[in-house]
Amino acid sequence: MTIIKWSKEFETGIKAFDEEHKYLVETLNKIYNLLKERKRDEAKKILKNNIIKYTEKHFKHEEEIFKKYGYPELERHKKIHDLFIKTIVEKELPKIDKSDEEFRAVISFLVGWLIMHIQKSDKKYGEWLRSKNIVIDEEPVKID
Ligand SMILES: [Fe+2]
Ligand SMILES: [Fe+2]
Repeated sequence: MTIIKWSKEFETGIKAFDEEHKYLVETLNKIYNLLKERKRDEAKKILKNNIIKYTEKHFKHEEEIFKKYGYPELERHKKIHDLFIKTIVEKELPKIDKSDEEFRAVISFLVGWLIMHIQKSDKKYGEWLRSKNIVIDEEPVKID
């Protein structure tokens, strides 16, 4: 089962970033399923090692591109990224040890936030880059 299926609607049109978003969504689905199979330790490990680290890398990658091309919303967008990381680490992570139900709620929160952020903020930079005829020809960031 999947909590959310990747859809074309979530695409920014910037290939590297779309791949990174897709990896995050797929991995969150994987964690959700591990939890369902009662593989709680593995689910926790992937959340901490893959999701959090990869999200940080992904945010940095976006911010580098914003800086490079002078995206006017850099500061605002970066603040949203920073606040999200702070929320995960300080508010969400401590909940995962409480119960499977709380763990599941954390995963739902992460997926919901990610999709909302892509649709509200990330799609905007896609449009802006296109309006400036800027082509981003980069590889997605690596997992490790
Ligand atoms: Fe993003
Ligand atoms: Fe972003």
